[in-house]
Amino acid sequence: MSIQDYHEFLDQILIPEHVLQNRIRELGAAISRDYAGKDLMLICILRGGVMFLTDLMRAITVPHSIDFMAVSSYGVGARSSHGEVRITLDLRSSVEGRNLLLVEDIIDSGHTIAAVIDLLKTRRPASLRVCTLLDKAERREADVPIDYRGFVIPNKFVFGYGLDMDEHYRNLPFVGVARPDKILPPD
Ligand code: PRP
Repeated sequence: MSIQDYHEFLDQILIPEHVLQNRIRELGAAISRDYAGKDLMLICILRGGVMFLTDLMRAITVPHSIDFMAVSSYGVGARSSHGEVRITLDLRSSVEGRNLLLVEDIIDSGHTIAAVIDLLKTRRPASLRVCTLLDKAERREADVPIDYRGFVIPNKFVFGYGLDMDEHYRNLPFVGVARPDKILPPD
């Protein structure tokens, strides 16, 4: 499979690279202002958030640390109806007394981030905020606070810039909408 094969799956580019990067610089500037003089820890939810994390870090001018968590759902249907998620990789660092900023590529139903927030709150951080690049607001089922938001997007299957299409194309520098006839049914 070649990277150029993405053309076959792409309906349209939703957010071009320069628009993404400009917005990430704005988010980085806002985060840098808000966390000036504070001990900031970015927590990236694997795997989709990785591209966003690495660009966002470069746009943040205050000192900060990073750590990673991975979460998986019990299947899309189960997640939608029950919101059950499982932590498959936990943080390396202690978060007690620290200012946490969760970094996500996309918030859809909100169940993933809601579960992560519930878990991390039990570890008594000093503060806990959420930064998401994409907000598929129409699909929200769990009430989650979003403190930094890149873009509100329509309820369409998107891929690129960290988001996968059947585990591929996360490396595309833009966010694209998939052709409806090419979307695989969920597991
Ligand atoms: C995506 C995304 C969020 C979650 C959002 O991850 O990165 O973690 O789904 O969905 P929700 O708001 O409905 O819970 P995914 O499960 O696709 O895993 P990935 O990041 O490894 O691709």
